[in-house]
Amino acid sequence: LASLDTAVAASLRDRICPPEAPHLLSVTQFQRDSLGDLLRLAGSLEPVAQRHKTCRVLEGAVLGNLFFEPSTRTRLSFGAAFCRLGGAVCDTTGFTFSSMAKGESLADTSRVVAGYFDAIVVRHPETGSVARFAENIEVPVVNGGDGAGEHPTQALVDVYTMEKEFARLGKTLDGATVALVGDLRHGRAVQSLFRILTLYRQLSFKLVAPGGLEMPTELIDAAVTLGHQVTQHSTLQGGLRDADLVYATRIQKERMQEEAAEGYPARFRIDKSAISRLAPADVVILHPLPRDSAPEANDLSCDLDADPRLAIFRQTDNGVAVRMAVFATLLGVEAQIPACLRDA
Ligand code: CP
Repeated sequence: LASLDTAVAASLRDRICPPEAPHLLSVTQFQRDSLGDLLRLAGSLEPVAQRHKTCRVLEGAVLGNLFFEPSTRTRLSFGAAFCRLGGAVCDTTGFTFSSMAKGESLADTSRVVAGYFDAIVVRHPETGSVARFAENIEVPVVNGGDGAGEHPTQALVDVYTMEKEFARLGKTLDGATVALVGDLRHGRAVQSLFRILTLYRQLSFKLVAPGGLEMPTELIDAAVTLGHQVTQHSTLQGGLRDADLVYATRIQKERMQEEAAEGYPARFRIDKSAISRLAPADVVILHPLPRDSAPEANDLSCDLDADPRLAIFRQTDNGVAVRMAVFATLLGVEAQIPACLRDA
């Protein structure tokens, strides 16, 4: 771990988290300038994420990747990011294969694994659980999703993707019209995104949700207080008009009672017909994924897959560079990245 000096405070890390709690738990830890710096760092790491250059600033470090809920892209892109910076990864998935299945507490688990790793990512089904996990340990903990709470790195990936897609179109995120569509009540990714987007200037949010799945009022009030325009819609017609960006989300059935999870109408589905009838020609379409692949799914149809405006796989690709930037920052090695890339 010769090159990893976590004792020396790095300025970006200090602006995101206090020295005594070097964790990334919520997007509320960001200000506009620290967000911009982290996204720029992610941009500089793209050649490494895309396997054109090597950079081994985390040589000797080990990541604990603890996922107690299902995941494909978050767990694997965190692992890939750490490995591509020269580190190694240990994974555990599900409660069944951890000693929590034998009754061990989250607090004991946290104290134990903090002795093994240089950084830890945790996904857990209970809201607030990752903050509790991080409470008594000094090893940096990243929230990989805590129940219906937050998914901060997904929001970072989303704004990074938005900035790139808008730059390609000659647009900026400041002043944009953003339609958030689907289950806005239970979706931690879309709520983290809504929160972090309020750091930009004068956005117009169109919140499109089935009855009962609307965005929590306190998040809407916070956005309005910060000078953003927010309108709520119960159909796609009003919601997609003038949208620079459509962010579709899945109905989060796993966070509902079984009977409540049925019967959400397909009229919220983002598909070729809806986009061509209702959205501007240069709209950008994102989704945090996974999308529901059932034929009756009501989030994002596969009939848009060949449409260049659909950026969902550019969005997933961006996950590696953004998560590299998160690790480099929390482990205090981001100042070494420019030299590392020059030498690569
Ligand atoms: N977006 C997201 O969190 O995907 P996974 O559940 O596959 O990690």
